[in-house]
This record gives sequence, C-alpha cells and structure tokens, in this order.
Amino acid sequence: MCGIVGYLGNKKAYNILINGLRRLEYRGYDSSGIMLYNGELSVKKTKGKVSDLEVLYKNENDKRGNIGLGHTRWATHGPPNKINSHPHLSNSGELCIIHNGIIENYDALRTVLKRKGYDFKSDTDSEVLVNFIEEIKKSKKVKLGKAVRLALKEVVGAYAIAVFDKSNPSEIVTAKLGSPLAIGIGESEYYIGSDPSPFLEFTKKCIYLNDYEMAIISLKKGLILREITKDTILDPFIENLKHNIEEVEKGGYKHFMLKEIYEQPQSVTDTFRGRLISPSLPIKISSIEKSFEKFKSANRIIFISCGTSWHASLLGEYFFEELLRKPVEVEYASEFRYRNPVINENDIIIPISQSGETADTLAAIKMAKKRGAFLYGICNVVGSSIARETDTGVYTHAGSEIGVASTKAFTCQISLILLMALDLGKRMNTIDENRYQRIIKELSKLPELIERVLSIGEKTERIAKKFIKSPNFLYLGRGYHFPIALEGALKLKEISYIHAEGYPAAEMKHGPIALIDKNMPVVVIATKKGNYQKVVSNIMEIKAREGEIIAIVSEGDKEIESIANHFIEIPECDELIAPILANIPLQLLSYHIAEKKDCNVDQPRNLAKSVTVE
Ligand code: G6P
Repeated sequence: MCGIVGYLGNKKAYNILINGLRRLEYRGYDSSGIMLYNGELSVKKTKGKVSDLEVLYKNENDKRGNIGLGHTRWATHGPPNKINSHPHLSNSGELCIIHNGIIENYDALRTVLKRKGYDFKSDTDSEVLVNFIEEIKKSKKVKLGKAVRLALKEVVGAYAIAVFDKSNPSEIVTAKLGSPLAIGIGESEYYIGSDPSPFLEFTKKCIYLNDYEMAIISLKKGLILREITKDTILDPFIENLKHNIEEVEKGGYKHFMLKEIYEQPQSVTDTFRGRLISPSLPIKISSIEKSFEKFKSANRIIFISCGTSWHASLLGEYFFEELLRKPVEVEYASEFRYRNPVINENDIIIPISQSGETADTLAAIKMAKKRGAFLYGICNVVGSSIARETDTGVYTHAGSEIGVASTKAFTCQISLILLMALDLGKRMNTIDENRYQRIIKELSKLPELIERVLSIGEKTERIAKKFIKSPNFLYLGRGYHFPIALEGALKLKEISYIHAEGYPAAEMKHGPIALIDKNMPVVVIATKKGNYQKVVSNIMEIKAREGEIIAIVSEGDKEIESIANHFIEIPECDELIAPILANIPLQLLSYHIAEKKDCNVDQPRNLAKSVTVE
C-alpha cells in the first residue's frame, strides 16, 4: 500500500509528482504530500485525497523546483492525519523520506534515537527511519547513500523508499525490500514510482529494483545500483516497457471501474492472444508446455491468493478437478503462510495475483519454495515481485487495472485458468475430445459473448436504482457459479458498503434462509445446464418467503422470468463458460448501485488495490 513518486531532471517536478500521485492513488488515499527543492526545501501535505493536496498549490511559486518526492498514503502506523502524512523530514530538516512498507523494529529504533535526543512529531515508522539514517550519516560521517545502506541493514520489515538530502540536492537514494519500486530513465532525468504509471508518457526505459537493492540516482554521476547486504555494485537491467498511457487514463468513462468493465472483451482477447489462436489449433501456453511433466506427475495442486484472486482460485479448483482429475486445494495466502502446511516436492503451488505484490501471497510463495514445491504464478502486472519469485508462470495481460475493485483482472484470471485446464486436460487425456472441441469453440468466441452481456448495461442500471437503500444482499450460486456468487457479494460490499454475503445456493436452508423476507434482495445465478432445476427450487423457496429475486439466467429462460422479480439474461453457453459471463452483470449491478449511492467507486473507503502489508 502507499504510492511513492519522485523526479530529478530539468522538468517542473511538481507536474510530474501530482500526476504521478493521481495515478498511484489506487494504492492508498488516506493522505498525500509533496516535497520540492528549489534552493529551499518545501513540504506540503494533507489528510485526504490528491485533489485536496492540489488545493494547497494555488500559488505558481510554490510549484517551483526540478527535484522532488511525492507520497499517497494508506495508513498503517498512526491515524490518517496531516502529521502522519509523508514526506517526513529528519530532525535537522536536512533529509526527507517517502516510504511504502512497514518498519517492524521501529519502536526499538525510536527508543535508541530518543535517548540520543531525537524527537518525533508523527506516529510513523517512516519518521523513525529517516532519523535513523540521519543519525548514521552524522555519527559515521558518511554520505547519504552509505548512511541509507547501513541503516537498512539494521531494519526489519518492508520498504520502498526514496530519500533526499538538502546538502546534495542533485541526488535521490532509493531502496527496496518487499514493496515495489520502479525507476524510469529519461535523457538526463530520472523518475521514481511504485509502478511505472507516473512516467509512462516520458520514458519506456525502466529498472525494477529487486529486494535488497538500492539505487543512488544522481544528475551528476548517473545511476549506481548496489546490493544492500553485500555492498556490491550491480549491472542494472533496463526493461523496455510495453504499457501505454491510455491504459492509465479514464477515456471518457465516469470511473475507471466502468471503463475496466467495458474493456473486458479486449482484455480477454489479450489474455488469449497467441494462446488460443483458433479452435482447430492446440492451445499454446509456453510455460505449461515447458512444465507439463511437473503437472503430470504432481500429486496435488494448491491455489493460493487473497481477495478477488481467491475467488478466481476457487473457480480454478472446480475447473482443474473437472478437467484434470487431480486433487486441488484452495488456500487464503494469509492462513496458509502461518499454518504449518504439509507441502512436498510433488506439489504444484499456483499463486494468483493481479498486482503481483500482495504481501501475504508473496510470503506464502517464499515459504512453499523453501519446502520444495514447484511454483507456477498467475499475475497481471508484468515484472511484479510474485512474477519474479515463482519458478514459472503466465501473465493474464488484462492491462492496467486502476479501480480498486477488481473486474477485468478477475475475468481474465478465470478465462486463463479455464484455458490452462483445457490445455492440461487435453495433454493428460483426462477430457473427452468432443467436449474439448465444443468448449474450445465457445471459448474462442468469449470476447464476443462478453460484448453481448455488456449490452445489458442499461437494464442493470434500472434494476440497481431500486436497491440503493437496501442494507443487505444475499448472492447464491451452485457449482461453477458459487465462486461467482462470492465475488458478486464482495464487489457490492467493497464499493457500495452494503452488507452482502455469497452462499452456495443449497446451503441457504442451513442458515441464511432465516434472513429472507420482503426486504432482502437475493441475487441468484441460475443459468441452464448444471444444477438448473435445483436452483429453480431454491428460487421457489426464496419466493415463498417473499425475498426479492434478481436472477441471472440464460437467454430465453421463460420459467425463471415468470418467478423472479428481476432477471438479467446472458447467452446460453457451456456450463464451464457460464460463470465467466455471469460475473459481468454482477459487476455492473454493484457499479450502478454504488454510483447511484454517490460512493467513491474507484477508491472505496479503507481499501487499497495493492496490499503490501500483512
Ligand atoms: C486487495 C484488493 C483486491 C484484491 C486483493 C488481492 O484487497 O483490493 O481487489 O483482490 O487485494 O490482490 P492481488 O493483487 O494479489 O490479486
């Protein structure tokens, strides 16, 4: 969580920092702040959004300076107020830091520093770190780079930091452990970001720092990359980014979330590109090809993830068990890593993550790796920590997802997992050839099918209007639709703050049925095939208790149309593809309810897109 941005070069740093903060706001929006240097060091910060920070910069004179740092915060230590906002200055006012992560031993360090006469204005671990660096710099009489390195050797925790020293104002020192940090290389100028979005329109040349690496970036001496623990000089690996700037702009939509929902036909096309070329050609996922023997001999497959990615994992279990006939387990990364799970060399662990930075998933990967498991990652963000920590894997290529509530990334995850399961099932001979052909033909039309579902946008909006005052919602689904019911409920509570629960439809009678009365909206996914008739019975049970039924049905379903209060049709398709389509009206429903309630759809309260703390 938290977004960091920095600039040093010839341009007006303020413009780059404020735009960069807007793009990184998805990482946290409790408070924000900017440091600029223009002969003098000035810091402005405030509780609230980047737009609140902008208000403080009405005077053009305040925007001067070609070097600066910016931060948008998701509060960990201390409440989200102005004092706890970043950047933080050291006691002398010479050093300035921005930090994403958590310094776990900050309390012990603060006690030591207090004894030496330091005082602290904020509750933050980051203010402790900048003073610790200052103390080392002064007591050991070393330059900033060395002081940062020596300080970080004593630090326990996670960080992506950028530090500026007023006495050497053409340099910024950055370092990374756990939290992400990207450096953009321009012509005699450098950009810093938690991801490359702050500098995409200026340069495509990017260095992603690895854990335990630091970069001393100087306008006079260039960039020097060092390993922190061994103090060796490293050769930086400069990547050529393929992202484009349109991906991080709203493109005429009111919210990123809506844009991302409507982008799904294109996103899924990108997920399938080069992999599902035509139904008559074999599926081509090179990492599956290369690790096929591992999959074949695996005793067990374990999906690990958090949040929406966990729902994708759960559907992954259904797909993999059906098509591969291998035992599959699904784990919350946060539980898995702190249990003492039985893992061995014949297990394949599949972490799924949009951001590729989720701290719990990353820690679970490291633990499973130590125990000898083979790690096959599914990530969206190219070059992310999880992508680099796993043995091999596959990218979803959903494109940048800015809305905090995941939509297109989830759709691409589940589409890709189905493609993987079909590929593995075909290679292992665990899927009937005719069935394979049938599904693959439909799957190759998935972008068009999604396009058709999206045409129900207005109808969903009309239905949404009726429910903006509802305090609760129930989401029900059976089989492949159960993970979608969970995801639908999560989407609604995330962005509209309406309490919602997802349940397997048949479990309703073991508890949730007690909640049903005329004030309880119940979303039921009831497409043809699978357990259709059983779900119809569940709908009748809800109707008998006067619950208000919103049914997601297959096109032309007259039976449910006559029972449900509201119904949304999706194209009839194979039961393995139906959950991918059924998820889309649920995204739209949540979006329109939240939008009509005037909620901040893209930045729901208390959430962050990339959870880099445990
Ligand atoms: C946060 C986000 C969710 C996301 C979860 C896992 O909670 O708000 O949208 O599903 O993290 O993130 P990941 O990047 O690992 O998929």
